[in-house]
Amino acid sequence: MNSAEIRQKFLDFFASKEHQIVPSAPIVVKDDPTLMFTNAGMNQFKDYFLGNKPAPNKRVADTQKCLRVSGKHNDLEEVGYDTYHHTMFEMLGNWSFGDYFKKEALEWAWELLTEVYQLPKDRLYVSVFEGDAKENLERDDEAFAIWKTMVSEDRILFGSKKDNFWEMGDTGPCGPCSEIHIDLRSEEEIAQVPGRDLVNNDHPQVVEIWNNVFMEFNRLADGSLVKLPAQHVDTGMGFERLCMAIQGKRSNYDTDVFQPLIRFVAVEADVNYGENEKTDIAIRVIADHIRAIAFAIADGQLPSNNKAGYVIRRILRRAVRYGFTFLNFKKPFLYKLAEVLAEQLAHVFPELKAQLSFVQRVIEEEENAFLRTLENGLKRLDMLEDKFKENNNTIDGKTAFELYDTFGFPLDLTALIAREKGLKVDEAGFGVEMEQQKNRSRNASATEQSDWVIVQPDVPTEFIGYDYHAAESHIVKYRQVKTKSKSEYQIVLDKTPFYAESGGQVGDRGYLLSDTEQVEVLDTRKENDLILHITSKLPQNVEAPFRSEIDAIRRNFIRKNHSATHLLHAALRKVLGDHVQQRGSLVNEKVLRFDFSHFTKVEDAELREVEAIVNERIRETIPLEEQRNIPIADARDMGAMALFGEKYGDFVRVISFGREHSVELCGGTHVYNTGEIGYFKIVSESSVAAGVRRIEAVTATAAEEFVQGQLDELHAVRQVLSTQSNTAHAVEKLQEENKALQKQLEQFELKQLTSLKDSLVQKAQQVEGVNVVAERVEVSTADYLKKLAFDMRQSLDNMALVLAAEIDGKPQIAVMLSDELVSDKRLNASQLVRELAKEIKGGGGGQPFYATAGGKDVAGLQAVPAKAIELLKTELVK
Ligand code: SER
Repeated sequence: MNSAEIRQKFLDFFASKEHQIVPSAPIVVKDDPTLMFTNAGMNQFKDYFLGNKPAPNKRVADTQKCLRVSGKHNDLEEVGYDTYHHTMFEMLGNWSFGDYFKKEALEWAWELLTEVYQLPKDRLYVSVFEGDAKENLERDDEAFAIWKTMVSEDRILFGSKKDNFWEMGDTGPCGPCSEIHIDLRSEEEIAQVPGRDLVNNDHPQVVEIWNNVFMEFNRLADGSLVKLPAQHVDTGMGFERLCMAIQGKRSNYDTDVFQPLIRFVAVEADVNYGENEKTDIAIRVIADHIRAIAFAIADGQLPSNNKAGYVIRRILRRAVRYGFTFLNFKKPFLYKLAEVLAEQLAHVFPELKAQLSFVQRVIEEEENAFLRTLENGLKRLDMLEDKFKENNNTIDGKTAFELYDTFGFPLDLTALIAREKGLKVDEAGFGVEMEQQKNRSRNASATEQSDWVIVQPDVPTEFIGYDYHAAESHIVKYRQVKTKSKSEYQIVLDKTPFYAESGGQVGDRGYLLSDTEQVEVLDTRKENDLILHITSKLPQNVEAPFRSEIDAIRRNFIRKNHSATHLLHAALRKVLGDHVQQRGSLVNEKVLRFDFSHFTKVEDAELREVEAIVNERIRETIPLEEQRNIPIADARDMGAMALFGEKYGDFVRVISFGREHSVELCGGTHVYNTGEIGYFKIVSESSVAAGVRRIEAVTATAAEEFVQGQLDELHAVRQVLSTQSNTAHAVEKLQEENKALQKQLEQFELKQLTSLKDSLVQKAQQVEGVNVVAERVEVSTADYLKKLAFDMRQSLDNMALVLAAEIDGKPQIAVMLSDELVSDKRLNASQLVRELAKEIKGGGGGQPFYATAGGKDVAGLQAVPAKAIELLKTELVK
């Protein structure tokens, strides 16, 4: 069975057990502050487990793109070295939301593995939770009894909380689990050590393939466990490991999931996979990492310097570095692999193929930038080589850490380069620096979150903000969140007009009002589907009803900007082409910002055309057509474009302004008629990342103000120029005049400089047979001072010259000596200038024949000539 068949069999099997097959959620998580990336199939269903929202279907199954590179589940450093850990992997899963429980889950798992996939029963082991006294959790006898009907008892193992109690993160849904492991070793190996001794022991051929979690609890922030409102099943099977088992391979990388990538890298690098451990590791790292990188970018996460973007950047750099060091890739190579991957998975995850050129562009640009950084880091190491040699042939921890932090050199790369140079690395010192940095960021980001205080249990939130600006509301629950710098309350209401930040539109602000009190809502945010009203205090009586009211004036500006964003999107596609896709947006009361894929600067003429189209739509006063709850297929038929990286339900909201113009899937708030926008004006166009452009624009009064501001400025310029029209021509004329004047001035100054020089020559006095000139002079620039000194050198032999001048309000000194005075080492210009600089409270230096100094004290210039003569006398007499 090839991997495509294996995946399909899983989905078909659960479809036959009445599961709805759903698409994978995006790999990048948007509305859950506890997660950056999807790390398990169950993430997208978190709200169903917690009871925040009812599940539309009680049984679902899918294959989910997962990434375990941050937070509680992080496998990054293992990847490439072993044969069965990955950054991105597919998790096959089936779920019961308050429907079937342990019996069906385990029986179906066994049926699928042993009957459909025909994995040999005598190679499988299962594990059961042994209980935990500290947590007050009992042994899972129920699971044990179910397994006993299918599996011989010596194949059932009991496991501790570490292996058999699954938790999504520090808080959230969790429960005991039962894992299925497979022993893929040869008969001889098995005869020596029985498989049960190797389960959960990091053996590459005795691996877990499937985890069945029985979600019963919620882990609270205070560490305690509370029962969930219902019991659920959450299962996750590692797709790549399953392929290894079914295809009889000894490594995930030997399956057809990775082989096309591996072959491609091996050919590019001109090596054979399987011949050399070092190049093999590098090839595995690259074949693995490209999957994480490409899918994260396709789902909207660009590499960047913080948070999720930084994680992707680090994975990309890890791949580049292994290629650079072990496969001799000195030019970008990763981006080429994205195409192999896109073809391979087009039938399951079409998003990569659909955006391939964009994804490749982003990767290539990142690679280029990092290769430059690597080179700079190598140069830095070369530069410091002598210092390391003096330091007992050791690269100190601080430098190793700087290379890591600034240049992206992991310790092993520094160690490798060090070895080549006959140096060691102070690894302990590096560790200390690393720990210090971790502490710093831990302290900076430490948040303390209290558990929810439930005021009314099990009340869902109703959002009425599309139709109303105010409501009578009650608090459902609230909690307090503290960071070092601030403390806030997060309040959930039963009914709310407040729009929570999402889809680029900022959250509403407003008030919770009672007869006696007014609590300000500072912001509204989302956590999955919960709407959190952010306040700095709680209403005195949390049980009483109150009026919740948004700042409607602010919301009105936001609505205009949001609708204008849709019109802009449509106009851009019309003017630039269908490759324009939204890559991000921000809509607030002041401005709208729209990021989109496009590979070159948008020309001025194109911007004007876009602007004209949007304003035309505004003047057409097109009414809003809102469809609040239509099947996603119908929305697609209408031409609504789904954004990559967004999660859509079966029913969606569609916003159209003229079906032939603008139809979008959108949850935001909009004008009722485009005429309300009034006027649209683009204020800037720029680049955000490779292949991504940004347009900022304003609408309505803000657009008027912007234009008025520009006109006022023009008016002011015209007044200064005393012209009514053709301002550019007037400015050009001024510039030309200015240039001509400058030229004249230069000629004049040069002439002056010549006469100054002549008079200085006249002033030369004899000191010990040397022509000494020490004078205060008037010149306008440092260049002229230098020119004067060099001209003097041409005019006077055997000369010691000291010039003191005030240039741009600052004192300067120049010392120039004829060659004969320097070559017999009687005088040194650098030394002289340093001594003289004391007079002007400054310092300087240069060459033995010519040196300059600057300082702070202009008044000190006066004393310089006399001091110079005195100094020269002493020096020349010596
Ligand atoms: N949530 C469990 C896991 O990730 C099962 O899906 O292992």
